[in-house]
Amino acid sequence: MSHKIAMLGTGLIGRFYTMSLLKYRGKEQVVVAYSRRAEQAEKFAAEFGIPRWTTDMAEAIRDPEVDTVVIGLPNYLHKQAALLAAEAGKAVLCTKPLATNADEALEMLEAVEKAGVFHGYLEDLVYTPKTLKALESARKGALGKVLWARSRETHGGPHSDWFWTKEQSGGGAIVDMGCHCIEIARNFIGKENRPIEVTCWADTQVHPIDAEDHAVGLVRYDNGAIGQFEVSWTFRGGMDLRDEIAGTEGTVWLNHWLRTGFEMFTAVGQGGYVAEKAEGDTGWLFPVGDEIGSLGYVEMFLDMFNAMDEGRQPMETFYDGYVVNAIIDACYKSAQTKKWEPVELKVWRGGEGRDLGAALKDYDEEHYLIKEERMPNGNLKVILKNKKTGAITQIIRE
Ligand SMILES: NC(=O)c1ccc[n+]([C@@H]2O[C@H](COP(=O)([O-])OP(=O)(O)OC[C@H]3O[C@@H](n4cnc5c(N)ncnc54)[C@H](O)[C@@H]3O)[C@@H](O)[C@H]2O)c1
Repeated sequence: MSHKIAMLGTGLIGRFYTMSLLKYRGKEQVVVAYSRRAEQAEKFAAEFGIPRWTTDMAEAIRDPEVDTVVIGLPNYLHKQAALLAAEAGKAVLCTKPLATNADEALEMLEAVEKAGVFHGYLEDLVYTPKTLKALESARKGALGKVLWARSRETHGGPHSDWFWTKEQSGGGAIVDMGCHCIEIARNFIGKENRPIEVTCWADTQVHPIDAEDHAVGLVRYDNGAIGQFEVSWTFRGGMDLRDEIAGTEGTVWLNHWLRTGFEMFTAVGQGGYVAEKAEGDTGWLFPVGDEIGSLGYVEMFLDMFNAMDEGRQPMETFYDGYVVNAIIDACYKSAQTKKWEPVELKVWRGGEGRDLGAALKDYDEEHYLIKEERMPNGNLKVILKNKKTGAITQIIRE
């Protein structure tokens, strides 16, 4: 089926989304673009061959030809747009973060579910080709039980005034980029596992703003796994997007932006854009061959529209966006109290109390195996724990 889209927002993400939709799945049509300013809306519509444009958000959503609303607006407008879309009975796809806080996110979730409209959370970074393949390996058991999922997104700060204005964004680097890292970790750890509590450090190290421009947080899940996020608007050198996943049987390291295998030196530059958040265009550069593919937008929209056509849920829904917002709320609290804070989920749809404790490996009837290691002299060291006495001993095999 071919869908007719209202694109709300013609900024950075409106552009990436429109490019992805028109270039790849190929079936969809953006029939109306909404932007705050007429001049920008008109220019955007002309550039992408979009038949109509407007500066009235409700008009774009209610456009009779539109069946799907894509929200690419500043965070504080997501709720208003989603509620209008639900009211109009349109499918709604919303960019990250779903909302500025969990209360708003829950209101959005309830609205789309009550209206019975299709809803998708546009968390592109779980859809990068590398991440999808790594997630498949994790689901097939290649990593064993995932114990630690560490995800980083750092750059020198966002590109528009509203991101820096707490009332419009809901916060700083945590709500802007922690949302990606938290959802990447949830996908690897398993969404059925409940996030229990968080601890978070956040500070404003560089910029003259009220919100945090740097933060590190830990999210503890009820199966014992830990998600770690590292986000910054103070990082120099481009955009660093990296994930490290460690399980009982394996490890994955992913580098999505600064080391993708494309490195270039130029003494004179190319007079313009190199890659998102690149800081310059001379010297050693790290261009990205296919930006929208590498950031996951292509696979994300394939999943969204294929799910819509097949009558199933996409991989990421408003419910996921709500859980992420709830974790972020707890992080803001913890950054203030400097204590572990519980993740308050008024709606939880996963499992409960799944902690199975340490995975004990039998060595023989009397011992558990702690570790085996081949030493530089060729010996094999076997470290054991006596099941009854608890004593730890080692055997050396020559
Ligand atoms: N990787 C990603 O998924 C990703 C990347 C960038 C941005 N985003 C999200 O997309 C949304 C928009 O971000 P962006 O980077 O496109 O922003 P932007 O500033 O580049 O564009 C904002 C758009 O919203 C419109 N707008 C309407 N009312 C506005 C208002 N009151 N103030 C400012 N703009 C207004 C502007 O006209 C513009 O078209 C945000 O929620 C952001 O978090 C997601």
